[in-house]
Amino acid sequence: MRRLALLLVLLLVTGAATPVAAAAPAHTVSYDRYSLKVDGERVFLWSGEFHYFRLPSPELWRDVLEKIRAAGFNGVSLYFNWAYHSPAPGEYDFSGVRDVDRLLRLTEELGLYVVARPGPYINAEVSGGGFPAWLKQVDGRARSSDPGYTAAYREWLSHINPILARHQITRGGSVIAYNVENEYAANTDAQYMQDLQDTARAAGIDVPITHNQCCDASWTPTWASGLGAVQIPGVDDYPQSFECQTPDVWGPWGPGTTERLSDNAPVYAAEYQAGAIDLNRAGYDRCRELTGPSYMRYFYKSNLITSGATMFGYYMAFGGTNWGWLGQPNDVYTSYDYGAAITESRQLTDKYAEFKRQGYFVRAVEPLRHTDTATAPPSSDAAVETLARANPSTGTQFVLARSLDGGSSTLDWSTPDGRYSVPVTVGARDALVLVAGYDLGGQRLVWSSSELMTHTRSGGRDVALLYGRTGTDGSTVLRYGSRPAVQVLAGSVRSSFAGGDLKLDYRHEGLSRVLVTGGGRPPMLLLLGTNETAAEFWQFGSVLVRSPSLVRDATVSGSTVTLRADTSARTSVEVFAPARRLVVGHGVVPTRTTSSGSLAGTLRGPDPVRLPTLTGWRTQREPVADDSGWTVADRGLPSGTYGYDQGHVWYRGHFTAGGTETAVKLNAITGKNGVYQVWLNGTYLGWAKGGTQADSDAPVNPDPGPGTFTLPPLAPGTPAVLSVLVGNMGHNDDWTADDTRFKQPRGLVGAALIGADTPVSWRLRGNEPDPVRGPFNTGGLLGERAGWHLPGHRSGDWRPAPDTLAPGVTWYRTEFALDLPRDQDVPVALRFDGTGAYRVLMYVNGWQMGQFTADLGPQKEFVLPAGVLRTHGKNTVALAVIALEESTPGPVSLVPLANHRVR
Ligand code: GAL
Repeated sequence: MRRLALLLVLLLVTGAATPVAAAAPAHTVSYDRYSLKVDGERVFLWSGEFHYFRLPSPELWRDVLEKIRAAGFNGVSLYFNWAYHSPAPGEYDFSGVRDVDRLLRLTEELGLYVVARPGPYINAEVSGGGFPAWLKQVDGRARSSDPGYTAAYREWLSHINPILARHQITRGGSVIAYNVENEYAANTDAQYMQDLQDTARAAGIDVPITHNQCCDASWTPTWASGLGAVQIPGVDDYPQSFECQTPDVWGPWGPGTTERLSDNAPVYAAEYQAGAIDLNRAGYDRCRELTGPSYMRYFYKSNLITSGATMFGYYMAFGGTNWGWLGQPNDVYTSYDYGAAITESRQLTDKYAEFKRQGYFVRAVEPLRHTDTATAPPSSDAAVETLARANPSTGTQFVLARSLDGGSSTLDWSTPDGRYSVPVTVGARDALVLVAGYDLGGQRLVWSSSELMTHTRSGGRDVALLYGRTGTDGSTVLRYGSRPAVQVLAGSVRSSFAGGDLKLDYRHEGLSRVLVTGGGRPPMLLLLGTNETAAEFWQFGSVLVRSPSLVRDATVSGSTVTLRADTSARTSVEVFAPARRLVVGHGVVPTRTTSSGSLAGTLRGPDPVRLPTLTGWRTQREPVADDSGWTVADRGLPSGTYGYDQGHVWYRGHFTAGGTETAVKLNAITGKNGVYQVWLNGTYLGWAKGGTQADSDAPVNPDPGPGTFTLPPLAPGTPAVLSVLVGNMGHNDDWTADDTRFKQPRGLVGAALIGADTPVSWRLRGNEPDPVRGPFNTGGLLGERAGWHLPGHRSGDWRPAPDTLAPGVTWYRTEFALDLPRDQDVPVALRFDGTGAYRVLMYVNGWQMGQFTADLGPQKEFVLPAGVLRTHGKNTVALAVIALEESTPGPVSLVPLANHRVR
């Protein structure tokens, strides 16, 4: 008896008695020229790009991924950022915000396919294009088969590949494809491309390998054949370019037609433009306009029909934040909102609605996964252009009707079920994909001039949702063996029956509803909406929900349908499911049954929330430190030589004046928008812009700004100290694969006194990597080195804030408490008002969440993700205000960016 008890205890302690979750079933992945296949079934991969490293809050990864899934995406494209995980050679960290295992588990839980993109080079507007800064010191050209670089990237791959391998679909995970390198188009080395793949295969990667070719098939090589060829070569396309300041100018970078690179693999739009970097600092709302619903309709739908592509990666679905020193300096600032469908503060936009309309369609209509070019129905009006594809097995036709200026036309359409005159109206810069000859559940759709968004079989009947632009006419024709009964439940719809065809004619207005029964088919509920009303629908499995609010999930169990939904106000909800009871979150929602057989109820909105005012600021100047312990610059001036790779670097130059020195000439290279400041014996001499992006023929920009600072007269023999604060901005990318941009140094690169050749001995001090928050969190401000940005720092001896700041660094700290309602999601930003010659690095609970550049704009609001921000507890804000000239900084406040009740 006692032995048995002991055994039981042992079993419990070792965990052997706990039932182990059954391993997820493994699947096969294959492909042909039409599509990917999982277990032999065709898959239309509709994925959106997401960067976990731009959202340092794993809790919120779920939120974003659920929103991506709810829009109808069945996949995500994920870059893995080498630099984010590797602070130094041989050191790798996959913990906390860098826990990519957790990210991949989440995709599995949510049923999202993953295209894994581990580089080693990723571009992505991240510092170094994803190369760790330490790689700049490694001999040998990056992105080549040079031995120095080879050893380095194999080290990264030896860490990331095993993680990706265990999350492959073939082992029950989510990874469906593996993307090597990134737009590897300049200075290419086929042996290197091959080695990346051999290395992946040796690590157990057995899903198809892809590449994202820049920028259309005119670029070579395409990696479709020869040494280094991948299995599924894809193309990146950014037809709208990045000129957000002129959002009405269309397609400056070409027609954006995705191209076929291989006869044996599906057409893959690896990165298709779904937003833009804000190159000209016009603000991301302009970028969202540039890449808005009209562009999405015209370009994305064109791609479906012109190319028959069945693999898409929309860049970006959610952009996120260049927190810390994560951003590459030339193209981006703190926000990487990207004008994406989901904003940086995780809000849904009209682009989200367009993704939903298209995403639900490609998901629902299986024949689209296997199509060939077909003859398009002639259009009576040249303003409406038609193109077509057809499924060779089912005969289903897909007709693109697109127009630049708008027009009404009649299509002479030979459908699989007969020849018809089909009137269509297409708006300016708009496109429709119309379907004919489709077995829709138990129905036969002969044709429709409305677009089909989705359909489902629910409670023994078919439910189909069609839509069109408000005010335009639509017709839908269904085939029956005998005249069916037609009941118009809502709206104004005329019906006629002739030759087996039931024809419904209507105007797209609100949401019309028609119930068709009999005629030798199962009953069918037709929902005929507008672009707007269609976008209020959500679908999970066979459950359709109509609500203006976000619906994250829906499940049916017995006669209960359970939703998870967010509301920002009191909203209606209507559920089409075979259920009698509606539960939202954990609460039963009273409902009535509608004439459409759905359940209708109301969801309440959130309670109002007030954020505290930030008060009680205390300040302290950047410490004036004794530099005797600093690093001696005995191997040149650039800071990377000494491993000081992120953010600011302080230099001290000691000399004994000869008496004839008139000026000091400095050359600092900071990356674009960086600045440096100079003092002599504590007196401010001024500031200058640092050197910027090198191009191939000028590896080190010789023109970093004024650079020459007049010295006050110095008596011979006077000990003098030059202090230089270099504000580095992150590392250039290596898009040209030739090291010239990427390996550009940071920090001081030249220093000389003018008027005398007095020797100057230099010391410097820069950043130390933060072991928790990662290599990009802090630079080398002395306050950062002293932990002034950390929550634990005691600022008891700090003083009340002055109105005016002298040039240099002034630190501010305060605290505030939050207790946001537990069932509400209130994204919070730190807002900076004011202009002037100053910049602010902001730290929230020690996390550096951005840089406000009062002298450059445009960003004023900096998103603080929950997780970094304690939504129930005390928070510490520290600011390093860097005044280039005497400055009066503007106010700082907390602002709510939204308010949702989440259930
Ligand atoms: C692509 C690149 C991405 C990103 C994008 C622009 O060329 O592959 O990583 O940089 O451009 O945002």
